[in-house]
Amino acid sequence: MSRIAYVNGRYVRHAAAAVHIEDRGYQFADGVYEVCEVRDGALIDEARHLTRLKRSLKELSIREPMDEKALKIVLRETVRRNRVRDGIVYIQITRGVSRRDHYFPPDSVRPALVVTSRSADRAKAEAGAAAGVKVISTPENRWPRVDIKSVALLPNVLAKQMAKDAGAKEAWYVDASGHVTEGGSTNAWIVTKDGVLVTRPAESGILRGVTRATVIDMAEKLQMRVQERAFTIAEAKAAKEAFITAATALVTPVIAIDGEPVGDGAPGPVALALRRRFHEFAERADG
Ligand code: PDD
Repeated sequence: MSRIAYVNGRYVRHAAAAVHIEDRGYQFADGVYEVCEVRDGALIDEARHLTRLKRSLKELSIREPMDEKALKIVLRETVRRNRVRDGIVYIQITRGVSRRDHYFPPDSVRPALVVTSRSADRAKAEAGAAAGVKVISTPENRWPRVDIKSVALLPNVLAKQMAKDAGAKEAWYVDASGHVTEGGSTNAWIVTKDGVLVTRPAESGILRGVTRATVIDMAEKLQMRVQERAFTIAEAKAAKEAFITAATALVTPVIAIDGEPVGDGAPGPVALALRRRFHEFAERADG
């Protein structure tokens, strides 16, 4: 079955899908994106993803290419046309196509919208989470507006490749004060010896992860203690557990940081329980 992409008003064969060479996303990384999990055919935490998408657009003064109702239809149609039951749907919006010029283009230029969807192997993801992942640390080198889900991901790409080359899955950024901000494409968490879940406050230095927000809600409903505060790599190494969250990773245990085991070097029970129960607490938006 050939894959289908939505590109600026049309559903086209994925292999033939293209944007113009003067799309501002291509030339300036002048755009934003979202990744939403698809599970059993439903969009997970769609409302939170769309709220963040609108915020990212607003922060960059990019117009919404269509209203929310229409966008939801495009998301479902793209998932449906690709026959995705478990996987992701990806949304990218750029400031549009215009002659290369740093200034914003005239108002007549419409923002560009691309939506793709692809399947993921759930069994493989579960096996990966059951094994846990390793992370490395690296100095924070991104711009301060990481709260905007911009497609300008070059530092993230480099950090994640560095992790891969080191046999790890994720790189945790460490800010100038020695505190972990987040991962290249995930939020960072630890579980203290007292069983408190700790994750950096969303005010600065991190993307306001949707999975992070849902895990906070879930932990509170399960009467677990959550502290939104920054932590250091040393604290994380000495913690009982560590884990990462993202729409693509859900809750994934971290078993080593910079080559040193976290806890007993195996996925921790708290992270595994949060992963197992995540979808009881996340919002399911059916088609
Ligand atoms: N990444 N931090 C960063 C830098 C991210 O890129 C992401 C998501 C997250 C987790 O956010 P959420 O829980 O809303 O997925 C945190 C997506 C999945 C990606 O770039 O593929």
